[in-house]
Amino acid sequence: PARVLSGVQPTGALHLGNYLGALVKFTRLQHQMETFIFVADLHAITQWQDPARLKGQVREIAAAYLASGLDPKVATIFPQSAVPAHAELAWVFNCVARLGWLDRMTQFKDKAGKHKERESVGLYTYPVLQAADILLYRATHVPVGEDQRQHLELTRDIAAKFNHDFGVPGFFPLPEAVVEGPGARVMSLRDGAAKMSKSDPSEYSRINLTDDADAIAQKIRKARTDPEPLPDTLEALAARPEAQNLVAIYAALDGRTSAEVLAEYAGQGFGVFKPRLADLAVAKLGPVGEAMRRYMSDPVEIDRILAAGAERARQVGAPVLAEVKAAVGYWAG
Ligand code: TYM
Repeated sequence: PARVLSGVQPTGALHLGNYLGALVKFTRLQHQMETFIFVADLHAITQWQDPARLKGQVREIAAAYLASGLDPKVATIFPQSAVPAHAELAWVFNCVARLGWLDRMTQFKDKAGKHKERESVGLYTYPVLQAADILLYRATHVPVGEDQRQHLELTRDIAAKFNHDFGVPGFFPLPEAVVEGPGARVMSLRDGAAKMSKSDPSEYSRINLTDDADAIAQKIRKARTDPEPLPDTLEALAARPEAQNLVAIYAALDGRTSAEVLAEYAGQGFGVFKPRLADLAVAKLGPVGEAMRRYMSDPVEIDRILAAGAERARQVGAPVLAEVKAAVGYWAG
């Protein structure tokens, strides 16, 4: 049966890229398939996180999920660290995945930069844990932004090798990344060649889900553009990355395609387009930020939702992990 799984790391304020690339899709898919959405606190500590703040950050991601429309009566929402089977399955997968596969992961290279010998071993093996997150629930569909595509390919390789090595064809499904639409790769507002990211030092590079209407409008007003009016073809737009990004953001926020947005705005300059984009962004994101603040003001309720989700996730994952242990031949299997 089809099943959705995805997660977000609790490593700081969520931005428009996380929202359009991931959260919006979670909310849509929950009505189409059984859905598991977690907060990746195991992944978060691959780089230093202040222990005194980590739980609060987990609650904040949960609040963002709820604010963007995930319904705990429909989807299972839980913290990764409340389901130890993720880490147990990750160990088995560490012994299935090959070093050569991990050596190819571009996200590790980006995150580690020049001094990879100083990074944690966890950061290196992070995509293996991600495969465990997905396959513990035998998920078939994984809604993510474009930057996670390579990790999904690794997940498929791990699933296929496990099935082969332990002689159980079809034991794990080969999950697909759900990466479509104009919001799959939102770029920085300051640089059309860099993706919008939590770690960019410039606040003007991104719109955060908690930004108020003034901040949203100001960031869009200051977004880098060129002096030309919008073109009438996608090909012409593709040569102008900053313009292309703003059109894609408009399209994603409005549930349209970039071609449809161009059809409306071709020939108009940014003096017209930016204020319209700002109005749209405020109309769509304002209520999400407000709902997030409302949920954050009731941490007891968030904790209740997360505890109930964790209970259900443990129940669904337990038999799969038990089968894995038996297949591997563990003493305790
Ligand atoms: P994370 O926490 O970096 O990002 C969360 C989600 O947001 C997407 N995203 C973007 N989408 C469009 N444009 C952008 N600029 C942008 N920036 C981020 C990411 O693609 C992601 O979908 N490894 C994952 C977390 C994870 C996970 C999993 C996801 C752990 N286990 C299992 C799916 C399944 C991560 O670091 O996402």
